[in-house]
Amino acid sequence: MILGPVLLMLSLAQLPWVFAWGAAGHQIVATIAQIFLTPTSRQQLCQILPESAKCHLAPVAAWADTVRNAYTGPLHYVNGNDDWPADHCTFGESGWKDARRNVLVGIVNSTMGVSFLAGHEQDFALRYLIHFMGDLHMPLHLTGRDRGGNDDRVRFDRRITNLHSVWDGRLIAKALRTLTNYTQPLPSRRIESALRGAIYDSYVRFITWEGILGWWKDEWLSWASCIPLDSIFAVSEVEEGATASSSDDLQSPLSLPLPFSTPWPASMSTVDLPVCPLHWARPIHDLNCNSTLIWPRFLSNAPPHSTPVPIPPRDLVELDSPWYAGRIRNELVIEKLLAMAGVRLAAVLNELWDPQGMPHITT
Ligand SMILES: *[C@@H]1O[C@H](CO)[C@@H](O)[C@H](O)[C@H]1NC(C)=O
Ligand SMILES: *[C@@H]1O[C@H](CO)[C@@H](O)[C@H](O)[C@H]1NC(C)=O
Ligand SMILES: *[C@@H]1O[C@H](CO)[C@@H](O)[C@H](O)[C@H]1NC(C)=O
Repeated sequence: MILGPVLLMLSLAQLPWVFAWGAAGHQIVATIAQIFLTPTSRQQLCQILPESAKCHLAPVAAWADTVRNAYTGPLHYVNGNDDWPADHCTFGESGWKDARRNVLVGIVNSTMGVSFLAGHEQDFALRYLIHFMGDLHMPLHLTGRDRGGNDDRVRFDRRITNLHSVWDGRLIAKALRTLTNYTQPLPSRRIESALRGAIYDSYVRFITWEGILGWWKDEWLSWASCIPLDSIFAVSEVEEGATASSSDDLQSPLSLPLPFSTPWPASMSTVDLPVCPLHWARPIHDLNCNSTLIWPRFLSNAPPHSTPVPIPPRDLVELDSPWYAGRIRNELVIEKLLAMAGVRLAAVLNELWDPQGMPHITT
């Protein structure tokens, strides 16, 4: 009898979601994308991804975090110069902390990899692209303020954590815990065939059915539109001109340190790639500005680029509260970000693999 609870605890600990909340956000984005892939694009996944992925984007969506190191780490985020305090809140206009290695460049390079590489390299490029599209839609991956909120200790559901983790995982975890509807299959083959019996299935149904096909039905098709290859590289030219960085870097944003070995075709131009990470990221970055939606007022006195003064644990502010998590919930902030990331990821892949199939997407 004494064994009962112990066994129960062990089996709970083995559920992947117990220790990998951060992975859930990436898998949700990938699952939403899967819904909007054309049949031809889905077929491509079977060729490129390992067999264990079963022709689905989600099983590899969190992979990039598991191989993260000092070299690839900076590709998961981007920090603009002068993006804090809020009265500047620039995003690239004053250049980037690291113009050569950031999530914007990572998305361009991995898209390039998906379209030009083969074999394992194409597989890895696709895994990075899936992951970076998720990171691009997490507002704290787009700001250097307090190291993207990693330095801001807070409480969530009583536990001590930090602002970055709240956005990477806790808010999503809370949404998964509290959603009680959408447990039954929907009358949509397109949606149901992308679900895999994951703990976030109901949440994906909710976001897709009530959100993309409901509240946002008049705008979702426009989410993926872009001015191809916006000015990220032009901006880095302005910034790095002074430091004598070679103009080759600008023609080929390809000196990004992804672990691929095949060189890009010399004739390759990034202009044709169906991605515009800067254009997509700008409004998401703006969520960090001029509002207490993300950055609660009590943090706003921290001077830029300083480590915040440590707050004693008993004084840490609880963010799982109506005025913070409740507002984000009511405004469907997280749900819309996940939806946009998924729709855009699907659009990029369809554009690469099945451009004719794209306009015909319906449920
Ligand atoms: C924030 O406020 C400042 C000053 O009021 C303004 O110049 C800036 O454009 C605003 N930024 C955003 C993103 O709204
Ligand atoms: C499902 O649950 C969500 C979150 O609790 C709620 O916002 C939504 O209105 C519910 N939808 C239906 C159809 O009951
Ligand atoms: C991009 O990928 C290529 C090919 O694998 C690689 O050689 C390069 O270092 C990467 N970097 C950039 C900036 O694109």
